[in-house]
Amino acid sequence: MQTRILVAATALILVAGPALAIEKITFPTRIGTVVFPHKKHQEALGQCRGCHEKGPGKIDGFNKVLAHGKGCKGCHEELKKGPTRCNGCHQGK
Ligand code: HEC
Ligand code: HEC
Ligand code: HEC
Repeated sequence: MQTRILVAATALILVAGPALAIEKITFPTRIGTVVFPHKKHQEALGQCRGCHEKGPGKIDGFNKVLAHGKGCKGCHEELKKGPTRCNGCHQGK
């Protein structure tokens, strides 16, 4: 019984570890895939807030409107860093 609990706990750590250091997230769209360098953003911004208001994980209602607003493009415009042109994010087909 003891061993079983230990194995379960180890499995949890193995899953949670890489999940917190997500390298890249891709958003397939009909005008080309957007590759979001997540880890680079974690490092450049130094915090999760601003993007994750309710804690790490999926972002409720993340969509095109948010992506073209403060979720991606709006921040690039504000900080004058990161792509703001369509093909800077959408890797065209
Ligand atoms: C520049 C914005 C930004 C920053 C900063 C950021 N994230 Fe994210 N993160 C995102 C976006 C966008 C997603 C994808 C959300 C979705 O698909 O609903 C995401 C997804 C995630 C996911 C879920 C991935 C999945 O597929 O289940 C985790 C976990 C996560 N982030 C953790 C963190 C942690 C921890 C930090 C801080 C150290 C952080 N993020 C910083 C934007 C950001
Ligand atoms: C800073 C990055 C960024 C820039 C710049 C950007 N987009 Fe996007 N766009 C995204 C992301 C991310 C999504 C996906 C949102 C989602 O699915 O949740 C998206 C989604 C879309 C969609 C929805 C596609 C579908 O399959 O439903 C269209 C259309 C689109 N963008 C067009 C444009 C056009 C046109 C421009 C230039 C005027 C542009 N985008 C600039 C990041 C960007
Ligand atoms: C809160 C601010 C913020 C948000 C939100 C944000 N970015 Fe960025 N982004 C940055 C900054 C700052 C950089 C420059 C990082 C660097 O050069 O180290 C950047 C750079 C990038 C780059 C270029 C990376 C490179 O290797 O040169 C891409 C692509 C990008 N962002 C896509 C996205 C997408 C897609 C989203 C939304 C899912 C997003 N960003 C959301 C601040 C943001």
